[in-house]
Amino acid sequence: MHDQAQGLRNLVRRAQAQGQAAGRGTRILTVTSGKGGVGKSNFTLNFALALQRKGFKTLVFDADIGLANIDVLMGVSSQLSLYHLLKREKTIWDIVQTGHEGLLFIAGGSGFNDLIRLTEEQLDEFAEQVNELSGKVDFIIFDTGAGLSKETLKFIVAAQETIVVTTPEPTSITDAYAIVKMVHAMQSDVRFRLVVNRTADIAEGRHTADKIRMVAKKFLQLDIPVLGYVADDPHVSKAVKQQVPFTVAYPHCEAARSIERLASDFIAGQPPDESGEGAVKGFLNKMMRLFRP
Ligand SMILES: Nc1ncnc2c1ncn2[C@@H]1O[C@H](COP(=O)(O)OP(=O)(O)OP(=O)(O)O)[C@@H](O)[C@H]1O
Ligand SMILES: [Mg+2]
Repeated sequence: MHDQAQGLRNLVRRAQAQGQAAGRGTRILTVTSGKGGVGKSNFTLNFALALQRKGFKTLVFDADIGLANIDVLMGVSSQLSLYHLLKREKTIWDIVQTGHEGLLFIAGGSGFNDLIRLTEEQLDEFAEQVNELSGKVDFIIFDTGAGLSKETLKFIVAAQETIVVTTPEPTSITDAYAIVKMVHAMQSDVRFRLVVNRTADIAEGRHTADKIRMVAKKFLQLDIPVLGYVADDPHVSKAVKQQVPFTVAYPHCEAARSIERLASDFIAGQPPDESGEGAVKGFLNKMMRLFRP
């Protein structure tokens, strides 16, 4: 009985994955926060791995300006990064690396600093190269830098969906709201979702999310759904020190179980309406407009 149900679930999952790769194309998400150090990179990496385990080919793009560290969390020393692509020394497929469980990622290096000062020609090249990923993966997830830098905001605005990570600390909550407010002011159709990281229990997660949701509703008339809560768990720090993603090093720890649940809910949710041109093209077109010198 159990085997049959499992088999069916796998079948549905595979069909969903194939449907997504063939029909809907690539979905682009950004993960961001107001305050730094709230767990964005750990969330991004482990959430991406969870999607991958559910049959969705996922690529993590380290877009943290200056402080790139997805490769460090993966324990991979990367010689090649976005920098080489921007310098036109390498193609996108040269700089895509494979991490744990076949997860694809692009290291940030110092490349994103350069993106700010790109010439029009380099920007075209960048778009052309990133467009290569369209249809080849189900998800591209950008781990953005914390804070309200202009570049980070442009990135978030260009993508269709953004996951805002906060912790229950008041400073993190205030800054999470600040970033929502700024993105909302730049472009009102970005889809936000909230993740509360490092929660003591569900009640704390709910309480934290309610605070942000209430102000967003009141002052921006914006409904921000909660994607989920991730437990505060000492295994996360342990895994970081080992340079292995925590869902790989400690798959049964509380934080890992939170991530798995959250990824299931994410997949079960409604994907955003896609514009006719496709998500990657749409993203790149918006990015070109926003970054053009
Ligand atoms: N769920 C968690 N439970 C316990 N500790 C956590 C959790 N998530 C993150 N941490 C701790 O917070 C640290 C910072 O996490 P991470 O590097 O993912 O944050 P970040 O938001 O990406 O930071 P930055 O803004 O500098 O990019 C981790 O090294 C870990 O020690
Ligand atoms: Mg980070």
